[in-house]
Amino acid sequence: MQNLQEVKTEFQSQISNIQNLKDLENIRLSFLGKEGLVTNLMKNIKNLTIEEKKKFGSEINQFKKLVSSEIQIKKENLEIAAINDRLKTEKIDVTLPIRKFNEGKIHPISKTISEIEEIFTDLGFEVTFGPEIEDDFHNFTALNIPKNHPARQMQDTFYLNKEDFDGEKLLLRTHTSSVQIRKLQDSKPPLAVISIGKVYRRDSDQTHTPMFHQMEALMIDKNINMGHLKWILEEFLKRFFEIEEISMRFRPSFFPFTEPSAELDIGYEKKNNLISIGGNKKFLEILGCGMIHPNVLKNVDINPEEYQGFAFGIGIERLTMLKYGITDLRSFFDNDIRFLKHFGF
Ligand code: DAH
Repeated sequence: MQNLQEVKTEFQSQISNIQNLKDLENIRLSFLGKEGLVTNLMKNIKNLTIEEKKKFGSEINQFKKLVSSEIQIKKENLEIAAINDRLKTEKIDVTLPIRKFNEGKIHPISKTISEIEEIFTDLGFEVTFGPEIEDDFHNFTALNIPKNHPARQMQDTFYLNKEDFDGEKLLLRTHTSSVQIRKLQDSKPPLAVISIGKVYRRDSDQTHTPMFHQMEALMIDKNINMGHLKWILEEFLKRFFEIEEISMRFRPSFFPFTEPSAELDIGYEKKNNLISIGGNKKFLEILGCGMIHPNVLKNVDINPEEYQGFAFGIGIERLTMLKYGITDLRSFFDNDIRFLKHFGF
């Protein structure tokens, strides 16, 4: 059997000739492995005196450390050499096209919302928000839609299994008109506010999704009349659709919270089967509006003899579809990135 000195010499001569990682691993095994040379040397230890054992033990431990660290150093050197070899042969083709990457895009609904907010803040309106889980009072009663009023059936409502303090079921708001009441409960006129957000109705087909977005606008002051409403609507629509002229037609309608109430139609043309806003031959309905009903003002302690106001409500999806020629409402919520790309957002 070899002695420690011979094993040391053997190791040095073997490791200096190593050229690859596989041989290096073999050396590690042949010296430090279960049947390795160092392990074999250890078997001698039982024949030594205590003094000799101490000396031999420490020598052999030192040697084991040396073997491990030399193998580690050799390994790193071989790895670096391999990388250098690869770099020597590697060629960079600067003419290759870059890899495709997907850049995040703004959703068309979000884009419309920020455009509307920009237009209305420029016109002096404040932007405000209300909760999506509403109570019966804010969504219906205070808006002059009492219990059993047929208007409640116009908006098929999602109810929650929880009740408010009056014992009425909480609900998902069916329109942003509820924010009118919330705003008027904590601030007094004169005021001009808009509120945009999600609303919910039990409805689903090509032109309806159970969740959609609405915007509500409201302006209250002394001597506000429908002329103000008309000017604000005209200004907003021209800016939103980026056109110089817009034809508008008010059609009498009914909403419990406005009197008189109207629906607004705007002129459009069809080009290549796509709707474009402008012209005055054809008209489509775009929003509901009117002068705030005296009962609504009374419900929030505003004297209707002193203050008047207008309000209107618009569907955000509808506006976006008209602006960009989108035909299926559901595509807004399918989360298909190709849809967003298609419209260049
Ligand atoms: N809240 C109505 C709806 O969701 C829309 C609406 C109509 C809002 C007339 C108004 C308004 O403020 O004056 O159908």
